[in-house]
Amino acid sequence: MKKVWKSLSLFLVVTLLAGMLAACNSGEQVGDSGASDSGVSVGIVLPTKDEPRWVQDEQRFKDALADSDYTTEILFSQGSSAKEKENVETLISKGIKVLIIAPHDGAAAGAAVEAAKQEGITVIAYDRLITETDAVDYYVTFDSIAVGMAQAQYLVDNAQGTNVPLYLYAGAASDNNAFLFFEGAWSVLQPKIADGTFVIANSSEAVTLQDKAELSRDEMGKILGQVTTNWDPSEAINKAQTHLTAVSEDMKGSVAILAPNDGTARSIADTFVSDNVITDFTITGQDAEKASIQYIIDGKQSMTVFKDVRTLVKDAMGMAIDILDGNTPETTGSYNNGKTDVKAKQTDVIVVEQENVKMELIDSEYYEASEFTGL
Ligand code: GAL
Repeated sequence: MKKVWKSLSLFLVVTLLAGMLAACNSGEQVGDSGASDSGVSVGIVLPTKDEPRWVQDEQRFKDALADSDYTTEILFSQGSSAKEKENVETLISKGIKVLIIAPHDGAAAGAAVEAAKQEGITVIAYDRLITETDAVDYYVTFDSIAVGMAQAQYLVDNAQGTNVPLYLYAGAASDNNAFLFFEGAWSVLQPKIADGTFVIANSSEAVTLQDKAELSRDEMGKILGQVTTNWDPSEAINKAQTHLTAVSEDMKGSVAILAPNDGTARSIADTFVSDNVITDFTITGQDAEKASIQYIIDGKQSMTVFKDVRTLVKDAMGMAIDILDGNTPETTGSYNNGKTDVKAKQTDVIVVEQENVKMELIDSEYYEASEFTGL
């Protein structure tokens, strides 16, 4: 009897071990060099669910990973650097080999990625650069300077006559992209302010700097200090209301508005619509959020800059897989993050307005026609 138990328990142990081994292998289809003996090989951390942009990214990651054998986990930081650090620590404890992270605050995220780096994890900054640290290995991004340039060019192309009042808005100063967007926009707008096409309506700091073709980060910081939306639609409404109350009537009529992204564009547009002395406006956006696509169809928002998140997800996961397989990811350039040059892969952006909305977003199967009315 004893003997039977002995061989039975041996059998059980062997079966259990074999089962565990099989489980490990089925979770890790990434080749020997990438094999992790834990559950999760790639950790993904996104900044917040409050901005539809990042919910889009989550969905695109899920779509891209649906048929894959890679083990990944996506966590959201809900606009908190502390939560972000906690998320990274959770993923470290799950044994990740690669961390893909879009930081809430580019500088504050340094501590989180340094903790990952210490564990030998490869860090990929996703869409937003992590600044002032050398603990970031790669950066996958859209061409953010081109985003700002495209927004500004749209305003220039649609400006009629001279002295068009120009309202400037920007993203959060904790987001490196907000500076890149503004830098790109300023490079196109500044000559048109200098030649009298536009008059700045809502930033005394921008007026002080309006003769300078290139601004330092500090100078941009001063302007952002006055016109930041913090990426928050409510803050954008408050700012827009304050500006419309402060300006004289000659700063109204037909105006141009640089709005940094779709969420803020819709709320700024709604605020300007409700001002009786504003006759019409051109307003920019970014991200091709569904709600803004409907606004564009309805003529309530002029344009958006479409960033095909499918490409960004593909690039980020492609990089992660290269790393897991022991290969060196392909990069196309680099971004200085204040501490080091981070190797980067950059993707182009597309301007979307009423004329091409169907072609770019429906025909490309990014969205379905049934999600909109009046197409
Ligand atoms: C930026 C991002 C934009 C926009 C914004 C607000 O960093 O590049 O696409 O979504 O944040 O979240």
